Amino acid sequence: MSTATDTYAVSAKYYDQAYGAKQDLADLPFYLDLARQIGRPVLELACGTGRVLLPIARQGIAIHGVDNSAPMLAELQKKLEREPKDVRELVSTVHADIRSFRSNRRYPLVMIPFRPMQHMYTVEDQINALKTAAFHLEPEGVLAFDVFYPKYDMVFSGIGSEILDLEWTLQAEPGTIMRRFFKKHTVDKIAQTFAASFIYRTYRDGKLVKEEAEPLKMSWYTYPHLRALFLLAGLEVKEEYGSFELTPLDNNAGQMIFILKKSA
Ligand SMILES: C[S@@+](CC[C@H](N)C(=O)[O-])C[C@H]1O[C@@H](n2cnc3c(N)ncnc32)[C@H](O)[C@@H]1O
Repeated sequence: MSTATDTYAVSAKYYDQAYGAKQDLADLPFYLDLARQIGRPVLELACGTGRVLLPIARQGIAIHGVDNSAPMLAELQKKLEREPKDVRELVSTVHADIRSFRSNRRYPLVMIPFRPMQHMYTVEDQINALKTAAFHLEPEGVLAFDVFYPKYDMVFSGIGSEILDLEWTLQAEPGTIMRRFFKKHTVDKIAQTFAASFIYRTYRDGKLVKEEAEPLKMSWYTYPHLRALFLLAGLEVKEEYGSFELTPLDNNAGQMIFILKKSA
């Protein structure tokens, strides 16, 4: 079931600024291209603040987003209100859990960008989320999603240490710097999950003025594990990549990126 770690209540406030500052986040062109090639309308499961959803709508493509975090959807809503009417009219959102969400629409493209599948912590939840995606596909439709390939030396190390993960300046408040730290608390090698926190620190004129922390739990996948989940969810691989530059899914892979279709 959902846990408090899924709320993104603190992260929602900083999500767009933080990932805007992340130079190596290269997924957007991949999902935008897919939407341009296949979309109309698109279903995004776990759409968050609309980091991917809004650029797709701005291309004139209708997109429906589902997320179970009210704070993340509220950020998306704020951004939508600043968009022109023709973009706003292409977007609809639902506050729901992707493990159980059902609508009566079918889509040529369903996407789960930027690792929400890593918020599925049990095999049952993982299958249920993939079944939700499969349920909403048109007969020839495709599901695209990504997870990271686990760097095992990093997964099992650094427990208890704080790592400076991202830093950005607040344009609206000159002299204010935000830093996000990552602190891992525990690793469960059997469940393939780790529990951590993001710690957001605000510095004004060099002085720490605010600290906010939010728990983060993530699972990690191996490739055979994913292939077994696809079988159980009635999906099969159409394309797979090891990076957003579309390199092969091999020993150099940093990501595991899939384009799936419903099994025959
Ligand atoms: C890393 S964010 C990705 C958001 C967006 N897809 C993006 O690319 O920026 C993960 C999102 O998954 C959502 N999420 C986690 N578990 C969920 C669940 N069971 N049902 C719906 N959304 C969920 C979170 O609320 C959060 O918005």
